[in-house]
Amino acid sequence: MAEPSLLEQLSALPDEAWHGSNPLSAAFRDNPYPGLRALQKDDPVNLTPLGVWRLTKYDDIATIMKNSPVAMTLSDGTAPSFDPLDTRGDFHRFMLNMDGPEHLRLRRLVIKAFTGKAVKLMQHAIDESVDNAIEKGLAAGGMDICADLAVDLPSRMICRIMGIPESDRLIFQRWAGERTKAFWARFLPETEQLKIREAGVALADYFDRLVQERRKNLQDDLVSELIRAEDEGDKLREGELVIQAIGLLVAAYETTTGLIGNGLLAFIKNPEQRALLHSDSSLLDSAVDECLRYDTPILFNWRVLQEAVEIRGKTLPADSVLWLMLGAGNRDPDRFNDPDNFDISRKNIAHLSFGGGSHYCLGNQFARMEGRAAIGGFLSRVPKIKLIEKKMEWSNSFFRVLNKLPVEFI
Ligand code: HEM
Repeated sequence: MAEPSLLEQLSALPDEAWHGSNPLSAAFRDNPYPGLRALQKDDPVNLTPLGVWRLTKYDDIATIMKNSPVAMTLSDGTAPSFDPLDTRGDFHRFMLNMDGPEHLRLRRLVIKAFTGKAVKLMQHAIDESVDNAIEKGLAAGGMDICADLAVDLPSRMICRIMGIPESDRLIFQRWAGERTKAFWARFLPETEQLKIREAGVALADYFDRLVQERRKNLQDDLVSELIRAEDEGDKLREGELVIQAIGLLVAAYETTTGLIGNGLLAFIKNPEQRALLHSDSSLLDSAVDECLRYDTPILFNWRVLQEAVEIRGKTLPADSVLWLMLGAGNRDPDRFNDPDNFDISRKNIAHLSFGGGSHYCLGNQFARMEGRAAIGGFLSRVPKIKLIEKKMEWSNSFFRVLNKLPVEFI
């Protein structure tokens, strides 16, 4: 008889083995916060049945990211949660999965391209896309906030930035959605792993072709910028360029969908916060950060310890894999007053949703720009909003995103 897969072994474990907070369970997907709070209270430095440690306290997470000897890969060079058979479109060489000088080199090259004029010029395109989505919704008397705005906007923007033609956007959207799961593919069923690998191949083939085209004919887009990018005479090598492009696509798309969808859901459920924003539009910046804190698009990131570290009386050995439960830290009562309250007037919302330390999200300003336009634009223009469905359907993505959010305007 065949050995049970890792997923089958994990699914067979009782819920207590996970302290009621199994990231692969439907209950966790529906509402991770009560489980994370219990874990934070009862076992803040928790060894999971996978042998991975989970940290749930804000201070522990921040310290690990900023001031501890950590890496993104194990000492044998492998990434902790990836599917070892997934080699094309190799995620190991995306900057997020690299360490030390190699990581810094890639980050510097990509930042250069990413903070260039291509990105600054996006404000107009973002506003236009938000306006179109809202106009259509107003005319129809309602919309699916997810499909029509939270998915539509970031997918249009990242394709535009990259130089991917509009005619290929929907197929890209599908590949990017699949590829996102590569972050924890090792724990998923084989059928899922196959789809993730296929998406990796499709994206790598596509970008290979695009890079070849742009090499012959540079344009005003990110792929061309990456080709141009030079740092002390250094250039992105061919394979590296394609991997950074795929990584950026994955990093930029569903995460921003989560910010817009989860954020607007929080506003719909807390109409007094919408009224507060309406009365004082200068709160928009902190409102976007409160959306990111309150229901983060990324519930956890990871680090590997390079040496043994003691946390809250437990000694975690070198090469331990740590899941930093950003969603728990963002609601740590020792860091935030009334953490389960959605409150856009909070001061100093230093949430953890963009990670921290040397890998701090490179696209944070761009994501905030899209968040401000979509959340602020939607709330200032549509009339009273009614949820069509009471029960939310959360996606099985690695990111925390809704499948749909249909609303009526009344
Ligand atoms: C609301 C939307 C977003 C969220 C919540 C988010 C969150 C994150 C997180 C948690 C990390 C890992 C940080 C760490 O482990 O310390 C990350 C890394 C990264 N993000 Fe974002 N992100 C968002 C949008 C974007 C966008 C729009 C882009 C690009 C346009 C982007 C590009 C990146 C890149 C390149 C990295 C890797 C940085 C490195 O390794 O040095 N992200 N992001």
